[in-house]
Amino acid sequence: MSKTIAVGVTGGIAAYKIVDLVSRLKKDEFEVVVIMTEGATKFVTPLTFRTISGREVLTDLWQETERYNVQHIGVAEEADLLVIAPATANFIGKMAHGIADDLLSTVALAVTCPILVVPAMNSNMYLNPIVQSNIEKLKSVGYHVMNPDQGILACGVSGPGRLPEVEVIYQKILDLLNPRQDFTGKRVLINAGATCEDIDPVRFITNRGTGKMGYCLAEEARRRGAEVILISGHTYLSPPPGVHFISVWSAEEMYQQMLQYHDSCDVIIGSAAVSDYKSSQVASQKRKKAEDRSEKWILELVGTPDILKELGKIKKDNQILVGFAAETENVLENARKKIASKNLDLIVANDVTVEGAGFATDTNIVTIIHRNGEVKSFPKMPKQQVAAVILDQVANLMDKSKCEE
Ligand code: C5P
Repeated sequence: MSKTIAVGVTGGIAAYKIVDLVSRLKKDEFEVVVIMTEGATKFVTPLTFRTISGREVLTDLWQETERYNVQHIGVAEEADLLVIAPATANFIGKMAHGIADDLLSTVALAVTCPILVVPAMNSNMYLNPIVQSNIEKLKSVGYHVMNPDQGILACGVSGPGRLPEVEVIYQKILDLLNPRQDFTGKRVLINAGATCEDIDPVRFITNRGTGKMGYCLAEEARRRGAEVILISGHTYLSPPPGVHFISVWSAEEMYQQMLQYHDSCDVIIGSAAVSDYKSSQVASQKRKKAEDRSEKWILELVGTPDILKELGKIKKDNQILVGFAAETENVLENARKKIASKNLDLIVANDVTVEGAGFATDTNIVTIIHRNGEVKSFPKMPKQQVAAVILDQVANLMDKSKCEE
């Protein structure tokens, strides 16, 4: 029997995107019951959702329906998952405080199924400590709350608050309904973010790595049952819940931390943007500013440890080592060379000059190359989804090595 998803739509501009989500769910033969708050009906008409979902849209706590004896209890009993998308600050606040003053908030209290909350709002509202503490409260009682995307919002402001891509919400729904646990019992070591190399006590050299890809990998591996150790250089991201998190500064520190943990890990993923050079000397005092524009400060740079290459040299049997190749030309050729020189099992290659790929984007366009020469190319996808396909490939390798044991 098909599963029923109750989709609660609240009054944010992103409500129109939920029409696509409902359509996607219907295509996969889910039963979808849409519940709208009064605010949501100002953005999209119930008729639109009724047409797409093929069912009466519920908007009124006091509405008599033939389907249910007591409407909010009937919906709550029928739902296998309740998705609130977009979830406004107001609605999140109501849920966090047990307020049930309309149909959707009443259903949210009555369900026993998992609840997925997808916040979307202006970034100042999202970052407001009251909203953040309400989100934390929901998480603490087991609600699944997605992080919004960063970007230009409908109000013209740029920052966190955009509704994640419909495809990402859809994948999250599938995972909640059928959680994959193919990394149970596995230890996964991931490095992420940009390393920073000091020049003097206040200045350092770094790069454009944001850590997003590695953090998505850590979150996905954790969700699929792995014990995850995330060793992170500089980022603006919060560590994903449930991972063992170690913050480092320089390439050398990252290397030392990786050496501490690599031996006990089944999978090692090097997604960090490790600085390739550092200053040969770090001044102990802050260098004074230039007297005039002609004054030069010539830095001498020396190499840093190639962490993956070193771990490749001491790789254990059945340990899977994954690297990234951010290239600007000859992507496949350079990636293949790295598989050999670093003793990798997989490399995730991308052309960082292409729009929607590489650093500081929420999406990536990757090709995964196996040690045996197999090549798999993927279209532009949100980084969460890229993380899922990378781990699918790793899981295949784990299965193969199990068969060979
Ligand atoms: O050789 P290249 O820097 O292009 O290789 C990229 C891969 O190697 C990435 O997976 C990166 O995390 C890793 N790397 C490393 N240590 C370095 C430089 C890169 O582990 N010093």
